[in-house]
Amino acid sequence: MKKVCVIGWPIKHSRSPLIHNYWLRKYDVDAVYEKLAIEPDKAANFISTLANSEYIGCNVTIPHKEAAFGAVLSRDQIARRLGAVNTVYLRDSQVCGTNTDGEGFLTHLKTKFPEFASPGSKVIVVGAGGAARAIVGALRDADVARIGIRNRTAERVRDLEILYGKAIHHIEDSALDESLEDCDLLINTTSLGMENQPPLALDIRALNRRAIVADIVYSPLMTPLLRQAEIRGNPILDGLGMLLHQAVRGFELWFGIRPEVSPELQDLVAADVRKASSP
Ligand code: ATR
Repeated sequence: MKKVCVIGWPIKHSRSPLIHNYWLRKYDVDAVYEKLAIEPDKAANFISTLANSEYIGCNVTIPHKEAAFGAVLSRDQIARRLGAVNTVYLRDSQVCGTNTDGEGFLTHLKTKFPEFASPGSKVIVVGAGGAARAIVGALRDADVARIGIRNRTAERVRDLEILYGKAIHHIEDSALDESLEDCDLLINTTSLGMENQPPLALDIRALNRRAIVADIVYSPLMTPLLRQAEIRGNPILDGLGMLLHQAVRGFELWFGIRPEVSPELQDLVAADVRKASSP
């Protein structure tokens, strides 16, 4: 039987097994998807020797994505741009890596809002870390021409500017309200708003009421930001869809079937998230 896993440290809360085992059952594939807690100093070795293990591939989560990037033998352009790998697979016994986080966000966005017109849209991204890097990359690939970055540490925005060029600009405090008024899509890429974390401190009173408000946080499903946005009538995009859509490509690479993100799967994972967060 084929085996795939997700590695991380810690790994207890990963929903990847729930998602992939659902698809394995649905498409009648004789394989199993497991979760493995791998200590930080053992991740690189686990990945570089994957071809000799019982696994045909793995997902990689925090804090191993950079180590995975260094450990694979071949990386595609998206992984190279991000310096991080979240999906590992074998081709001719070679360990290969890609990164599906940006694709996950964009597919979710386009599925829920097919009318979102990438080239002319103005986007605000909150945060400048790894998740921002992936999402900005996907938006640039979709020809979004203007992306404003709002981040606590202004210098970090420079890294995104170096990577993605002129389409990126830093939003200063003095320009925030004006940017919010002229915004089509606002995305929180930080972990603020997650359970046991403070909410994102962003005053959205000036936000254009047509702007889509997206969060990558999915626990809780309705973050304080999404709740605030919904109350004032903005369309919202939750973080769960990104999680589900980022998983699609891995399954396809391992098993040759492009799986569907069905309402049934969404309900299954949403119920699990709700169960975990209920007191
Ligand atoms: P990831 O790879 O998950 O994106 P990261 O690289 O640590 O994680 O980036 C986290 C992002 O959340 C950063 O933009 C960070 O802001 P800084 O660049 O100023 O560190 C932002 N962030 C995290 N905690 C924050 C907080 N308490 N207030 C404001 N921003 C925060």
